[in-house]
Amino acid sequence: MKLISILSSLSVLISHVSAATGPVLNAKELLGSPRLSSATPDPAGKLGLFSASTYSFEKHESQKSFHVVDLTVANGKVTKLWDDKAITEAVWLGLDDWLGFLKTKDSKSEFWVAKASQTPAGTDARYVHTFAGVVSNLKVRAVGPSIHFVVSAPALKDGAMYSDDGAPKKHSSGRVYTSLFVRHWDEWISEYKSNLFSGIIAPTTNNEFELVGSLHNILAGTELESPIGPFGGAGDFDISPDGRHVIFLSKDPEQNLAQNTASYVYAVPFDGSSKPKAINPKYGASSSPRFSPDGGKVVYLQMKENGYEADKNSVFVTNFTGNYEFVVSEVASHWDRSPGAVSWSANNNYLYLIAEDHGREKVWTFPIVSATSSVKPTPITDKFSASELYVIADSEVLLVSASSITSPTFFYLLSTTTGKVEQNLMSPLMTLSGVETAPLEPGTWHGLSRSQISDFYYPGVDGWKVHAWMIKPSFFQEDKKYPLLFLIHGGPQGSWADAWSYRWNPAVMAEQGYVVVAFNPTGSTGYGKEFTDRIQDEWGGRPYNDLVMGFEYLEKNFEFIDTKNAIAAGASYGGYMINWIAGQPFAEKFKTLVCHDGIFNTLNMYATEELWFIDHDFKGQIFDHRHHFERWNPLGHVKNWTTPMLVIHSSKDYRIPISEALAAFNILQIKGIKSKLLTFPDENHWVLKPENSLVWHREVFGWMKEFSGVGGFVGGEAEKGEASAEAPGIVSHGGDGRKAQDVLRDD
Ligand SMILES: *[C@@H]1O[C@H](CO)[C@@H](O)[C@H](O)[C@H]1NC(C)=O
Ligand SMILES: *[C@@H]1O[C@H](CO)[C@@H](O)[C@H](O)[C@H]1NC(C)=O
Repeated sequence: MKLISILSSLSVLISHVSAATGPVLNAKELLGSPRLSSATPDPAGKLGLFSASTYSFEKHESQKSFHVVDLTVANGKVTKLWDDKAITEAVWLGLDDWLGFLKTKDSKSEFWVAKASQTPAGTDARYVHTFAGVVSNLKVRAVGPSIHFVVSAPALKDGAMYSDDGAPKKHSSGRVYTSLFVRHWDEWISEYKSNLFSGIIAPTTNNEFELVGSLHNILAGTELESPIGPFGGAGDFDISPDGRHVIFLSKDPEQNLAQNTASYVYAVPFDGSSKPKAINPKYGASSSPRFSPDGGKVVYLQMKENGYEADKNSVFVTNFTGNYEFVVSEVASHWDRSPGAVSWSANNNYLYLIAEDHGREKVWTFPIVSATSSVKPTPITDKFSASELYVIADSEVLLVSASSITSPTFFYLLSTTTGKVEQNLMSPLMTLSGVETAPLEPGTWHGLSRSQISDFYYPGVDGWKVHAWMIKPSFFQEDKKYPLLFLIHGGPQGSWADAWSYRWNPAVMAEQGYVVVAFNPTGSTGYGKEFTDRIQDEWGGRPYNDLVMGFEYLEKNFEFIDTKNAIAAGASYGGYMINWIAGQPFAEKFKTLVCHDGIFNTLNMYATEELWFIDHDFKGQIFDHRHHFERWNPLGHVKNWTTPMLVIHSSKDYRIPISEALAAFNILQIKGIKSKLLTFPDENHWVLKPENSLVWHREVFGWMKEFSGVGGFVGGEAEKGEASAEAPGIVSHGGDGRKAQDVLRDD
């Protein structure tokens, strides 16, 4: 007995030691961890509401749960509300601690309410209303004792909400299109547009609520559509504080949706008594429309250039009097940053913005009342990446949701006057993931440390300083050498930021035993408009040369990076760059390349859906400017391809169709270059399903290990070093193709 207990405590000790010298995070732990939504504060500013989705690799299903975190105690204290699968969304009603939530079953959604303080929390829920179909994006505004709400749902031509019962039954899958924009992201465009429906619920006796009157489709009789797919949500609209108006985003219905990015903010009476009217002038894409707390103004963001999805977002304000006459003025026009979100201070005097700056999504404040035209917003954070912020109970404190390279979503309270963090709220992440029990260094999780990440600048093309992130494994030792994993981001107008991701997560990649370097070359966002714009008509030019110079910089400056065993990997535009590199002298630097959803033949790009994208980036249309497309075409250089490549692409990628990967893989095979194709019939531009993503990690890490000698583990294995995700069926024909001996392996 004694011996056994000594032995077992010894093995605890040993496993503890090995955990400190081996990887602290693998793919299975990444994908099986709870994914937290951002948190919203209750009217009293005491509780934060958030949801968590967790995938179980044992049960092979996801669980969604709702929770509140107590904002008044250090690190926060979490209470679970529900883990009912049918509950899809929950919001504060704006009345004490009342919550409203949507429950969907049998193709219909129901509106329910509950008090967060009920014990056990949230259990004493009250049914309010059943909608005709499935609704989403519930948004509310408390007006006296009643609650004005808006939800989105697909609508029939006559404006009625789509419902499975009401829709005509179809026996053929044929579709006919007669105009541009036949599919988007991962869906064929349907005849049912997303509309907004407004309604009011009011308390009756006995803590019950009831629907007052009926719902109004406030977009009925128009060609407008809101939210804007595929990523728009409740942030695409707002209800005025007096409950009498709604402002919402819609693409311009008079311009074709494939060649134009233009979208506007429309205002409409809450009861739909007149048609929506556009607030803003006809420029490019609009976003983030928000009423000021006093209801007298509206702020929104808009790009000035139509047809350019990565143009700078400018900040506009208009008076809102209810007469629908708008005088719009731009504020902070000298600010060379592109905010992604904007909202108001409680006293209407400041704007709070989230904008990217040198690889961090920072929180900024802007004094809208006193500002002259040259005043710029001031950043009040300098690390991590904020995703959403909310004012706490009419104060000058914000509830911020953020993430970092070393942590998924966490929350904190930020003073807008001092820029100080008033409260770290790490407990939601810690409690739900069940990993740590002690309060952690803010912005870290699962044994990852801030000391693993650093950033640096080096001289790039035309004298520009180029920024890059370096992520080391947790078991890094200065006197050892680690193979280089060279990461290229998509967009191309995007960036690697100090933010978490469940796809292409640099931390989980570094834990395989690499020093990961993630570059933000020409075209990247967060360094000013000119740096972003300089990629136009330069896809294989300036960014490519920045990357070549970045590699040389690594060779010269970091002893611990094994650049002789380097691997380059990228997705989307990053995948294009991989295909481009493969035909250039730079390819000699890499043992292998990993190309995910990459463009292979630029002449094929009219098979994409958002045509403005290529027309802008290649500076003209292919029939007039074919040479622009040919100049940067990876296909033009396949004669020189020799580097082994893993090609990954999925069938529902309508942004870059799978034919790109099929062509690239076929060329690799014909040329006898070591290569592999990984494909998922049910994934889009991203691999989202956890089981698929686990296979993705297994294949990518396994492939990289063959060339670098490190990594290969994804989690769940008995011994670290063995991949154990479910293996996809591997189909391999005889080398010369004549034997036609199919080998179907399932290991
Ligand atoms: C908005 O209203 C305020 C006063 O209510 C006025 O001073 C200001 O000029 C107006 N701004 C615009 C853009 O109309
Ligand atoms: C292949 O590489 C050689 C040597 O670098 C170069 O001269 C030639 O132009 C390249 N061919 C293509 C098609 O890129």
